[in-house]
Amino acid sequence: MANIDFKKRDSFTSKYGVIAAAAGSAIGLGNIWRFPYVVGENGGGAFLFIYLAFIFAIGIPVMLSEFTIGRSAQLNPYGAFKKLAPGKPWYLVGLMGVGAAFMILAFYTAVAGWTFEYIYQSIINGFEGKNSNELGVMFDSFRESSFRPILWFAIFMFLTSWIVISGIKNGIEKYAKILMPLLLVLIIVLCVRSITLPGASAGLKFLFKPDFSKITTNTVLQALGQAFFSLSIGMGTLITYGSYISKKNNLGNTAVSVSLADTFIAILAGVAIFPAVFAFGIAPSAGEGLVYKTLPAIFQQMPGGYIFSLMFFILLGVAALTSTISVLEVIVAYFVEELGMVRKKATIVASLSVSVLGILSVMSWGALKNVTLFGENIFEILNYTSANILLPLGGLLIVAFIGWYYGGAKTKAELSNNGTLKAKYFPVFIFIIKFIAPIAIAFVFLNSVGIIKF
Ligand code: TRP
Repeated sequence: MANIDFKKRDSFTSKYGVIAAAAGSAIGLGNIWRFPYVVGENGGGAFLFIYLAFIFAIGIPVMLSEFTIGRSAQLNPYGAFKKLAPGKPWYLVGLMGVGAAFMILAFYTAVAGWTFEYIYQSIINGFEGKNSNELGVMFDSFRESSFRPILWFAIFMFLTSWIVISGIKNGIEKYAKILMPLLLVLIIVLCVRSITLPGASAGLKFLFKPDFSKITTNTVLQALGQAFFSLSIGMGTLITYGSYISKKNNLGNTAVSVSLADTFIAILAGVAIFPAVFAFGIAPSAGEGLVYKTLPAIFQQMPGGYIFSLMFFILLGVAALTSTISVLEVIVAYFVEELGMVRKKATIVASLSVSVLGILSVMSWGALKNVTLFGENIFEILNYTSANILLPLGGLLIVAFIGWYYGGAKTKAELSNNGTLKAKYFPVFIFIIKFIAPIAIAFVFLNSVGIIKF
């Protein structure tokens, strides 16, 4: 028994496991629920174009920076910054990430709970015979009701905690590996049905034909926020996952594969949604209900719709679950490693405290619909502030940390696995994170608050 290392951290077991878990975090409601509605609210193709530019020019470098920080330090975001920058205030970036995790989990789990309602409605055939108008009403009245949205929230939160308690190998990795590929197949089936609907081409045109006159300064900020949100970057989720990645793994390949997979799924979700939105005469700018209102209408138009609808909402729930566990994991790793709690207690404390905020956000269309700030309800405030402000700000500080504090030599050692990998991309990467990414993020911010105008 002498050589059991009690300090050894739990970790992912294989290369595919790492990609599956990180992609499991990245791919979720951000791709399938948030991406289409944000594209819809921001005018379509031009937004997509800017979004893609941000994914490649900023998103991938930020992701790689997070992996680097996590794997070098082998700690949660707060602990990682403390360890890599002793005596310096960088740990505040980690704390901000833990705060962002609370906010994201609160509203995200609310939406994840909606998948349960839609699984339930699929089972009882609740969409049957309803036109798109009636499906819209159905969604709105569900969301305004007082009991079921809270029940589904609580069940979802419970499931998330349960997987997080069981740890990395037995929990997160195992579920992610089996179910993500299945989701992909189902989305492709949906795409085929959607683009063969009469009138579908208007939707494809909306999604892929940029009309730059639709771009406002806020659109650009939203594109940046959506890119960060979708890739799970800017708050330390991938620092935490990076800390579970083995020293043999190629971080550069992992970041690129995960980002490509995430982007591919978001575009597929757009191809599944927009043709149907136009075919059924739904407003692309319908907001957070867009996907929940559109998908049941598509299922009604396909043979086997009953079973596809059931499977789809189950898989969407699972995709959401592989994301919520990655957010909760940030808080739990922090509680365990910094506050000395055991994993189980940390998870319970974290999920109960998130639930307080979460239930307020669930009630944003019901009992608390009059609680607003600048006309936005609690849910929207959490959603907007975390994605469009906290994540890009976190990302800015993360790249600044690597580029200007941690430095090229240690970063290169980490990315090349101490010289065993070539990492030919390194000079480009370091240039981006020193200059391009921080300047671009700062620019988008300043522009959106009106300090500079272009
Ligand atoms: N990226 C996930 C999605 O698209 C959500 C998510 C998981 C997330 N972890 C995150 C978002 C960390 C921001 C930060 O559904």
